[in-house]
Amino acid sequence: MAAPAVVIATRNPGKVRELAELLADLPLRLLSLADFPELPEIPEEGETFLANAVAKARQVAALTRLPALADDSGLEVAALGGRPGVHSARYAADRTAPLPPTDEDNWRKLLQELTGVPEGARQARFVCVIALALPDGRLFTARGECSGTIASEPRGHHGFGYDPVFWLPEYGATMAEVGLEVKNRLSHRARALAEMKEVLRRLVAEGAFSGPSA
Ligand code: IMP
Repeated sequence: MAAPAVVIATRNPGKVRELAELLADLPLRLLSLADFPELPEIPEEGETFLANAVAKARQVAALTRLPALADDSGLEVAALGGRPGVHSARYAADRTAPLPPTDEDNWRKLLQELTGVPEGARQARFVCVIALALPDGRLFTARGECSGTIASEPRGHHGFGYDPVFWLPEYGATMAEVGLEVKNRLSHRARALAEMKEVLRRLVAEGAFSGPSA
């Protein structure tokens, strides 16, 4: 029998790669929004990570009639009162520019905003909320955090987003230097997903994904 399908509700290849690696030992066939090019863009309009993750998972489950896993994540910087938070992906957005900001635009803006903020006041955390929506309306959520500080300059080439400037004191390295294997042990997404994985395991055992539409 074919493994049941779950749609990862993102078009971000970096996230698909990380989630696929973290879920590799579950008997699931992982699809992503790249497998559904006809689906409309799903706007992220919520004011919390939870609201965005739930809205995305619910909409993708309704549109594909498959279980959908959505994450919403971002960086909260203490010295900026928690910004960029839910606006992390578009932090450096410029209304006059034709394209959305790149990862580099975003971390460059962050370094600029933190100019002059001393090392001891650069605490930050990545936050991730994952929601799983089933086509029958059931909903499950999990949250993970990863604490660090914002470095004064970028280092490393792994990962994505703010990884080059997210300093992990206990590793003496940025998130972009430690590599995917280490990142997948300590990241906000890994932590939220570890919790969600238990839910998925239970649902697989119950046969919840093997209905006619899955
Ligand atoms: P979203 O969850 O797709 O809305 O993306 C949130 C944004 O937060 C991303 O575009 C990145 O800028 C940032 N972000 C989320 N997770 C990570 C991560 O693991 N490393 C670096 N940046 C991240």
